[in-house]
Formats: sequence, C-alpha cells, structure tokens
Amino acid sequence: MALIGKDIDLVASLLKDGKVVAIPTETVYGLAANAFNEKAVLKIFEVKNRPTTNPLIVHIGNKMQLTDLVKSIPENAHLLMENFWPGPLTLLLPKKAIVSDLVTASHNTVAIRMPSHPLLQELLKKISFPLTAPSANPFTYISPTTVDHVSKQIGTKIPYILDGGDCQKGVESTIVGFNKNGDAIIYRLGAITTEALEVILQSKLKTFKNNKSTPAPGMMKIHYAPSTPLYLVDNLKKNWNQFKEKNIALIVFDKEIKGVNSKNQFILSKNSSLDEATENLYKSLHYFDNKGFDAILIQKFENKGLGKTLNDRLSRAQVKF
Ligand code: TXA
Ligand code: MG
Repeated sequence: MALIGKDIDLVASLLKDGKVVAIPTETVYGLAANAFNEKAVLKIFEVKNRPTTNPLIVHIGNKMQLTDLVKSIPENAHLLMENFWPGPLTLLLPKKAIVSDLVTASHNTVAIRMPSHPLLQELLKKISFPLTAPSANPFTYISPTTVDHVSKQIGTKIPYILDGGDCQKGVESTIVGFNKNGDAIIYRLGAITTEALEVILQSKLKTFKNNKSTPAPGMMKIHYAPSTPLYLVDNLKKNWNQFKEKNIALIVFDKEIKGVNSKNQFILSKNSSLDEATENLYKSLHYFDNKGFDAILIQKFENKGLGKTLNDRLSRAQVKF
C-alpha cells in the first residue's frame, strides 16, 4: 500500500529511480513518472490500465525546459503561456525527437503544461527532468481530487502519494492546440474557460472535431464515469420524480430538493459559486459511487464558462437515454 506524505526528497528519489508516484496538481491528482524514462512511462499505462494509444501530458517547472521538448512555439502559444502559466492550461506543441512516442502516442505534438500547485512546483525544481502525468484514476473512471480518492483507486499499485491537500480547481486542465496558421483550437474544455482564452486571443475559438472512426484522445464518449448510472437532467426539481421508485442520490448546485432525504443529497456550493461547485463535482461523484444507489442525478449547468466544462464531463459520464 502506498505511503502518504509530503516528503518531496523521497518522491524525487523514487522518480529518479524510475518509479511511478501520485502527485497533487491544482486540477486533479496525477500519476507521475520521469518523462525521459520510457520504462517508467510504460508503468503509468500499466497502473492506469490505459491503452498506449492515449497520449500523456508533460509537466514542466519552468519555460527553459521547453527548448528541450518542442521545435517551435506559435505566437498565440506565447500569449497564452504569459497569461495562464503556471496554471491549468495544456498546450499541444510540435515535439522534438527526445520526446518518446510512448508519451505522445506517436503524435507529432506533445502536450505540455506548467502546473501552479506549490508542492509540485517545489518537486519540479528538485528534479532535472519533466514529469509525464495523466490523472491518477483507472482508465475511464472519475479523476481523483483528494488523497483518499487516489489511495482507494490505485493505492496498492504505487509506492507513494504526495499529499498536497484537496485539488482547488477540481477539473482537468484545458487543452489547446494550433493549426498551420498558428490559430488556437480547443481540444478539451477544462479549468480555464473558453471565454478567458478568447479575451486574451481576441478571437472566437473553435473546438477540435475529429472525423476519424477512432475517438480523438480525451474525446472518448464514455469517460470520467462513476460505476453507478449517472443521469444528467434538464431540471432536477421536476425530473427527480421520474426516478421515484429507485434509490437515488442527487447532486444539487446550491439548495436541497424538497421531498428527498438530505442524506441522499450533495450540495456542490452553498454560496452558489460555480468555482466551488467545480471544485466539488468529482468529490460528489466519488462520494455517492459504490454506495448502493440505483442512480445519481444531476442537473445540467448553464452552458457557459465553467458550466460548459462541467456539462462536457457529465455528458461523457452519463447514461445515454
Ligand atoms: O489537469 C490535467 O491536465 C491533469 C493533471 C494531472 O495535470 N492531467 C490529465 O491528464 O488530465 P490525462 O492523461 O488524464 O488527460 C490528458 C489528455 C488526454 O485526453 C490525452 O489524450 C490528451 O490529453 N493529449 C495528450 N497529448 C495529446 C496530443 N499530443 N494531442 C492530442 N491530445 C493529447
Ligand atoms: Mg484523465
């Protein structure tokens, strides 16, 4: 079983030895390995039970590391880095040969982000290599935002979980790529809103659409899903009655629904804050999952800002009906 603690010297030495450890980030917990050690990277896929066709994100501590990793940086990428790094923004940039095809699943771009979590920044300063880290959940399950989530999901498979407290953003980073002209395209909605990116780039952003039969990385239909069937409904107050005969759990935004036992309800933000609701969404899904409920119900968020990100995750996790 994994040790849990804040010993970054120990974590640094484990990583240098090619071990895989769980690390905190501001978005969700990650499962980290030395990005330049292929054997270590392969272990990540094994622990997660993730197909190697799904590429990983490389985490850096400072911009100087970019020169080793990427061939060129479009002007718009510079702009975004200046405004959102360190922070929950991942950029897809043309990779240099040093970046293993295992990390990028043979794509010619590598996903890179500079996290803002202070403990992770300290760790990145202690090691000379970047860390490749997917979210620390088994493939297709909900991402972990607390040490407890990580410990329950994969604690038996790794030696150490670096305890950085609960993740403050609570949802994964936004992923942005660039076309031939250097225009930004959104590959995954996330903790940085589309609107915030558009203010900086001063243009409307498109979302990447994949025409191939195999789903694009991060765009898989069933993803981030709890084991209990999840229903994303238009109006919880009206719709919960349709599930009356079942033992249901409700995830509510700021107020409980009358007529349903309080024990079956999780309030995302008593202060009606979308930031706080985002921070708590995965927690609420972890909380209700595997507790014997027939269904978990949640209402769609207003489709803008972080609400759009949450709707994206929930629509992938929900039962299609
Ligand atoms: O917030 C986050 O980004 C967290 C923390 C741990 O940093 N990490 C994370 O990693 O969410 P992961 O592996 O769960 O999701 C990364 C996504 C995947 O959907 C992957 O397919 C996509 O990024 N990705 C990685 N490299 C890519 C590339 N070259 N082109 C397109 N998509 C890429
Ligand atoms: Mg993930």
